[in-house]
Amino acid sequence: MADHVIAIDQGTTSTRAIVFDAAGGIVTTAQREHEQIFPRAGWVEHDPMEIWTNTEWVLSSAMFRAGLSAGDIAAIGITNQRETAMLWDRRTGRPVANAIVWQDTRTQRRIDELAAQSEAGSQRFAEQTGLPLATYFSASKIAWVLENVPGVRAAAEAGDVMFGTPDTWLIWNLTGGSSGGIHVTDVTNASRTLLMDLGTLDWSDELLAVWNIPRTILPEIRSSSEVVGEVSVPAIARGVRIAGILGDQQAATFGQAAFDAGESKNTYGTGNFLLVNSGTELVRSQHGLITTVAYRCGDEPARYALEGSIAVTGSLVQWLRDNLGLIKRSKDVERLAASVDDNGGAYFVPAFSGLFAPYWRSDARGALVGMTRYITAGHIARAALESTAFQTRDIVEAVAADTGVTPEELRVDGGMTRNDLLMQFQADILGIPVVRPQIIETTALGAAYAAGLATGVWSDRERLREHWREDVRFEPRMQADERERRYRLWRKAVQKSFDWVD
Ligand code: G3P
Repeated sequence: MADHVIAIDQGTTSTRAIVFDAAGGIVTTAQREHEQIFPRAGWVEHDPMEIWTNTEWVLSSAMFRAGLSAGDIAAIGITNQRETAMLWDRRTGRPVANAIVWQDTRTQRRIDELAAQSEAGSQRFAEQTGLPLATYFSASKIAWVLENVPGVRAAAEAGDVMFGTPDTWLIWNLTGGSSGGIHVTDVTNASRTLLMDLGTLDWSDELLAVWNIPRTILPEIRSSSEVVGEVSVPAIARGVRIAGILGDQQAATFGQAAFDAGESKNTYGTGNFLLVNSGTELVRSQHGLITTVAYRCGDEPARYALEGSIAVTGSLVQWLRDNLGLIKRSKDVERLAASVDDNGGAYFVPAFSGLFAPYWRSDARGALVGMTRYITAGHIARAALESTAFQTRDIVEAVAADTGVTPEELRVDGGMTRNDLLMQFQADILGIPVVRPQIIETTALGAAYAAGLATGVWSDRERLREHWREDVRFEPRMQADERERRYRLWRKAVQKSFDWVD
């Protein structure tokens, strides 16, 4: 019986396929990491072919391990790292360049030029798109490929180039690639490009003209929960319907059952992303948050969200591992940080891609301040973990300033939430409880929900709420004056990270 749903989660560092049963429980998982390519300072790339090959492998392996065939799978949902821009040749199916990843800052100059041309500065397109002008979003990355990779502009004008975020790339390949693939994305992913109008939910000709991007390269925008096509590759999944597409942070919001206005979640991944659902109302931030589409099910009106995006949290732990060699495995950071009682006075601002929300300062660079001879590797590990909590507090403050409401608790998810030391510190520095659910893989769960809702595995969203279960509630223990003292020092450290670029 087709009562299982598979989520493909194409993230920044790895691709996973997770098989869920009809109760929303995880049956099996397959995962593969892909290479992070850093050709120059500030550049971050992925190889789209490697990501596609990994996707075929994880999907086939997960089905094989679970002993399932295509007839057992009701649907597949796709969720993905957002904004990352991929362009490929429609005829051959080959990428015309590596993917330019959301963290990449190579387009800074173009962003500054566009901001300087308008009185609104970096808010120039905020009314239409909900986004500030920043290297983070897809538009400047697409424009960079069109301008800098020989032959691509001409091929694009001739209709031979396709653009997509990773959802689009995977669906095109899963449904047949150059021999018949479909070219689609969903509203949540489209809302991250700086090319979609939030009101019409369609590509904006005006914005396409600003960026000089031909409309023919763009995918069709679909809802987040509807059947868009059938798998043809890999063979083991042939015929399974693809019925859900959500950017990964929107998927985590859906997986946390934060379906309605006022509900929120904070995901701890490569970066951190806090989303507050604002329902059918488009709320504009005055405090550095962005406005984004939360989800759209079929023909229903779209639901929107305010989002606080933080570029570097979990990836800082990877950096401690890969670039400094302080730890062997990412999870060892908790033990190293627990080897000391506090940060010893050290504060680490990981502005490796500039700083995103609420600052939007692409000129910021990483800063490790408060250093003395006393500082050990333990203190640095601790300061690194604490930076995740402090950056989250920056976002929670912005949410409170925008909405006038301080959240009563913070629902969290993502791999880093296994780190109890970090979760306790998060509660301490926010002064509100932090609540971890039993399933912390909510990104994949959300994509599965979207696909399962569209194919009748689940009847409605209210039923899905029943799957959500609390695991641990971290209560704040720190005295208020100590909390405020440390946060004040953090804000000082942030100031040190500004204006570093020549
Ligand atoms: O906006 C970037 C975000 O989608 C990346 O998420 O989970 O790959 O860190 P993640």
